[in-house]
Amino acid sequence: MHEFLQLIKDRRSIRQFKKEQIKDAEIQTIMEAAIYAPNAMNQQKWHFAVIQNKEMLDRMINVIKENMCNSGLEFLAERAKTAEFTPFFGAPTVIYITAAEKAKFAAVDGALAAENIVLAAAALNIGTNVQASPGFLFSSPAGQALKKEMGIPDGYTYVCNITMGYPDGPKPDAKPRNKEVITYIK
Ligand SMILES: Cc1cc2nc3c(=O)[nH]c(=O)nc-3n(C[C@H](O)[C@H](O)[C@H](O)COP(=O)(O)O)c2cc1C
Repeated sequence: MHEFLQLIKDRRSIRQFKKEQIKDAEIQTIMEAAIYAPNAMNQQKWHFAVIQNKEMLDRMINVIKENMCNSGLEFLAERAKTAEFTPFFGAPTVIYITAAEKAKFAAVDGALAAENIVLAAAALNIGTNVQASPGFLFSSPAGQALKKEMGIPDGYTYVCNITMGYPDGPKPDAKPRNKEVITYIK
């Protein structure tokens, strides 16, 4: 099989990371891949906050936990209260992808960039996990203050975030995929 197609099939969501930070050259290569994603009208109405500062990540984790507890969603609150819950799985790098709320299809653009990020990382043997619930970060004034600190422009809304680092432990098995979701019309 073509090397790139094999890479797509071999990528797994990684939820255990080494503490060691990934190299600057690696994150730059990965982010270069992100901004080469297809995007509507080449509008590039996306933003990528790459957080590698431990103190800031800890503050983000605390706000996420607090906001999940106050979300009014019982299952999220219960999860956030458990001692072992760590929103970013201890990853040393976390990327928040946001997109201009008013730009048409910008959320699609952001999701495509996310896929470029996880595949570029996989090519460098760097583990990733795409997440959606850490979007709770922004649902309180403390989270909105962090949003500014993260350099996210006004009017940009959360698309997803990606945890990233060198994988620790064995690679998980591939999850089954349902081929019946594809209709071929010839
Ligand atoms: C939008 C989105 C949200 C996700 N949220 C989470 C999450 O909150 N926690 C988590 O562990 N994995 C999350 N994942 C990862 C999926 O669980 C994972 O991609 C899926 O089970 C397939 O496994 P694989 O990535 O190893 O092929 C998310 C993936 C996407 C695309």
